[in-house]
Amino acid sequence: MSLDQRRLLPARRIATLTAPVLSAALAAATVLAITSAGADQPDGPPSGAATDGVIAATEIRSVAYQTTVAEAKTKKPKVTVIGTGGTIAGVATSRSSFTNYRAGQIPIDRLVAQLQPEIGEVADVSTVQFGNKGSGGYSIAELHALTLAVEQTLETSDAVVVTSGTDTMEEFAYWLDLTVQSRKPVVTTGAMRPWAAGTVDGPQVIGADGPANLYNSIVLAASQSTYCYGTVLMLNDEIHTARDVTKSSTTRMDTFQTRELGVLGWIDGSEIKVGRAPSRVADCDQKNRWLTPFNLSDVKVESLPRVEVVYNYQQAGGEAITAFADAGVKGIVTAGTGAGGISSAQSAARSRAIAKGVFFVSTSRVGSGSVSGGSSTAPIFDGDDLLPQKARLLLMLSLAIAPGDAVKVRQLVESLGNPEWNTVPPGNPQN
Ligand code: SIN
Repeated sequence: MSLDQRRLLPARRIATLTAPVLSAALAAATVLAITSAGADQPDGPPSGAATDGVIAATEIRSVAYQTTVAEAKTKKPKVTVIGTGGTIAGVATSRSSFTNYRAGQIPIDRLVAQLQPEIGEVADVSTVQFGNKGSGGYSIAELHALTLAVEQTLETSDAVVVTSGTDTMEEFAYWLDLTVQSRKPVVTTGAMRPWAAGTVDGPQVIGADGPANLYNSIVLAASQSTYCYGTVLMLNDEIHTARDVTKSSTTRMDTFQTRELGVLGWIDGSEIKVGRAPSRVADCDQKNRWLTPFNLSDVKVESLPRVEVVYNYQQAGGEAITAFADAGVKGIVTAGTGAGGISSAQSAARSRAIAKGVFFVSTSRVGSGSVSGGSSTAPIFDGDDLLPQKARLLLMLSLAIAPGDAVKVRQLVESLGNPEWNTVPPGNPQN
C-alpha cells in the first residue's frame, strides 16, 4: 500500500485533550471529552451524530487508553524527567549568544526547578541525572542503560520525559520506542538554544526554547494523551512519532519535521491537540501484542552487534562495505539514492559481504518516501521509508535477538519497522 493510500485511511482522531492543570472545571471537561463514547461502543458514528459523513471526533477504542487518560485528570500525575544533557542544558557565553555555548552543563534538577511553581500545578515532578553531555557522545551501551533506567522509573512514575541533545534525539526516541517495555508515556525533548548565559545559574538566554519545551513535555506526559503511543518527541510545541520524525535544520527551532505524515499534534497553551496516532495504539488493550520483542532485560548489551550505515553518491566506491564486513560488522544499512539505489561498486561489495554473512537493509538518503531496493532471495531487507540511522537501530536489535536468522530479521525489519494502520499489527511476532 502506498503512502498516499495510507493517508486516505480513516483517521483515528483523538479528542482534543485539556492539559492536566488541576482546576476542577477543566478536569471535568476533559473527562467528558475522553469518556463520552465509552470503551465498548460498537462500530459506527457516536450516538446523535449524523450518519452521512464524519462530523464528530472519534476516539481510541481502548479501555486501557481511555481509563488511563481519564484517571490522569483525577490526580496529580508523577512525572520523572531523565536528563542526558544537550543544548537544553547548555551554557552560552552571553545572553545573545545562541550558537556559542557548551552543551550538557546544567543539571536537570536546576532546569526543572526553574519551571516552578507553575509545573508543580501540573504534576509531581522528580528528576534523574542519567548523564550530561552532547547527544552524539552516547554509546549504544549507554542507550541500552537508558532504556533500563526509563523502565525502572516507570515502575513508580506515571510518565517519563527524557531530555537530550537534538542532534541524535530522533535516534534516542526511536531506540526507546523500540525497547521500552511499558505503555506509559515517554516523551523526548530538548532545545535549539542554550538555557543560561555565563554560568549554570546565569540569566536565561534571550528567546531560549528550553523552558517552554521542557514545560510542554511534562504537560504532555502528565496528560497520558500519548499512552500506548510508544515514545514521542516534543519540541517547538509540536508532537511527533519517534519513528517518523527527523531533524531538518541545524539551527531553526522548528527543526523537527515528520516529512510525509506530519505532526501527531501540538500544544497550544493548556490545550493538547492530537490528530493522529501511531498504529501500535490499536494494540493498547493487548499488551503482549503492543510490546516489541526487544526486551533489554533479556537482550544483553554484549549481544548487540555492530551495524553501520553506508551512503551512496555519484560513482561511490565499494571499499567502505568491504572494510565494514572485514571488521566483523554484522549489518549494513545502505542510504541509497532515490528509491534505494546503490552504485555498481557498492552492489558488488554487498554481494561479497552477504557471502560473509552480513545482512543489509535498503533505505534512501532522500529523507522521505518508500524504497524498492530489497530482495526476496538475498538478506537485503526493505527499509521502506525508515531513515537510515533508524533502520540501523532496528537491524541491530533484530540481529541481537535473531543472529544469523534471515527469515526472522526480515520479518522484524519489514513489519515492526514499517507499521501501517491497515496491516497485521506490528506487535511481538511471538504472540
Ligand atoms: C546535542 O545534540 O547534544 C547538541 C545539539 C543540541 O542539543 O541541539
